[in-house]
Amino acid sequence: MLAIYSEDIETHKTPALVIPVCQDRRIHSRKSITALLRRAEHLEEFKGRPEDAVTFYAPEGVSAERVILMGVGKYAELTTESFRAMAGKAVGRCLSGGLENLLMVAPDAAKTGLDPVDTAEALLEGAFLANHPFDDYKKDKDRRPLSAIGLFVDGKSANAMESLPEKVRLICGGTVLARRWVSMPSNDKTPPALANAIAERGEKEGLKVTVMDEKELAANGFGAIMAVGAGSDNPSRLVVLDLNPEKAKRTVALVGKGVTYDSGGLNLKTGEGMRNMKSDMAGAAAVAAALLTLARRPPAMRVVGVMPLVENMPSGRATRPGDIIRTYSGKTVEIGNTDAEGRLILADALAWTIDQYRPEIVVDLATLTGACVIALGEKLSAVFSDDDALAAAIVEAGAHVHERCWRMPMPADYKEMIKSDFADIGNMPSARWGGAITAALFLSEFVDREKTRWAHIDIAGPAYNSKAGAYCGPGGSGFGARLLCDLLERI
Ligand code: BES
Ligand code: MN
Ligand code: ZN
Repeated sequence: MLAIYSEDIETHKTPALVIPVCQDRRIHSRKSITALLRRAEHLEEFKGRPEDAVTFYAPEGVSAERVILMGVGKYAELTTESFRAMAGKAVGRCLSGGLENLLMVAPDAAKTGLDPVDTAEALLEGAFLANHPFDDYKKDKDRRPLSAIGLFVDGKSANAMESLPEKVRLICGGTVLARRWVSMPSNDKTPPALANAIAERGEKEGLKVTVMDEKELAANGFGAIMAVGAGSDNPSRLVVLDLNPEKAKRTVALVGKGVTYDSGGLNLKTGEGMRNMKSDMAGAAAVAAALLTLARRPPAMRVVGVMPLVENMPSGRATRPGDIIRTYSGKTVEIGNTDAEGRLILADALAWTIDQYRPEIVVDLATLTGACVIALGEKLSAVFSDDDALAAAIVEAGAHVHERCWRMPMPADYKEMIKSDFADIGNMPSARWGGAITAALFLSEFVDREKTRWAHIDIAGPAYNSKAGAYCGPGGSGFGARLLCDLLERI
């Protein structure tokens, strides 16, 4: 349903022709388009600000039923994200208007100074993502997705964009899938249910799928995963999706935190603290989505996705504060707080992944700490790595797909805060401050960095949107799925 056109914009029949308009500079050069823009030149209500939009019906010079001018803001502030957001908002308008399809007009790259392919990609992405609102649980689906989204580009650049619609459909399809899993309520995604859903799709895509149940986890020494799942009636799982193209020489492992619900356990969260904790498996959702997407766009390396799935609940069988557990690595952990469960399941998953696959690179994604949200807010994730090249590749990938990543430090002396009097390490830092850092340092204890390049991405902030944005409704954002796909093209 995504398509690129480069001819006959004037005679193209569409219910809506969408034109991005900049506040203080012309960004189109085609005559028929600039003629339409002249009609808005003296309008008080339309200045091209990001919140501005105006519709003309039965416009002269084109066959479209209506023309929608959408603001993209000031020239100096234009980025590809301005166009991604504009496309999202345009689709939102067309959806609530009950329109069937739309045709967007790409700006003239010579005028915006932005890369034409990146701009076209962003326009298609924003439109595709906004066209898939999450309504799985509504009887009345009030907004039917548009059946077609077109993008009109300059003839010169059309050739370079031939494969874009398919690429965007696949990669953003992954994001939509991750969003659905994150938004899905925890009663429908217990660890066994989510494991089955991921495994089923993995098999359909031809990936090698392994699911370990609670008996295998216990028998194989996954003491931390078992300890976190101990309080729940829903048993834990470990899901592995393995994409192993024939000529692959390198192995990259992606590990995602999959807490299908985080009540805190015996260190029960407050009601407010629990509110969005169905989203605590967003790391696993992103990893699953990335692998399912990559299966259709195989990179030149082996990619292994590892997802520990658990439910963190209080009960008579739950792990207690003060308990000491033995992790897969052999290291013991004193449980200072049952709500610091993410680092526990990742400790087992990371150590096992490295043991099993000897990957050159491991990247883990996790909604790990509230402290990370305090530090960077709800839009940015934090990257922890002592590998400069890997950290830089993650930050660059994040900028390209606008899933922003900010590198944070891992000062070795902060390890003081996760010492335990009785075990090898404690899961609860001795001080509140620097909580995202001490969590990353905890994970680092389970990665042999002599052998493995490793990065940890804390996505606690951006994994879940409490309110709608330009191309994502309230709920799961799917953060990480596009980031990981982009990253694998850079490392
Ligand atoms: N899943 C939470 C982190 C979280 C908080 C994600 C808010 C998204 C939004 C994690 O398991 C957790 O509870 N972390 C604790 C750790 C603490 C007990 C050391 C936290 O951040 O408070
Ligand atoms: Mn927790
Ligand atoms: Zn958690």
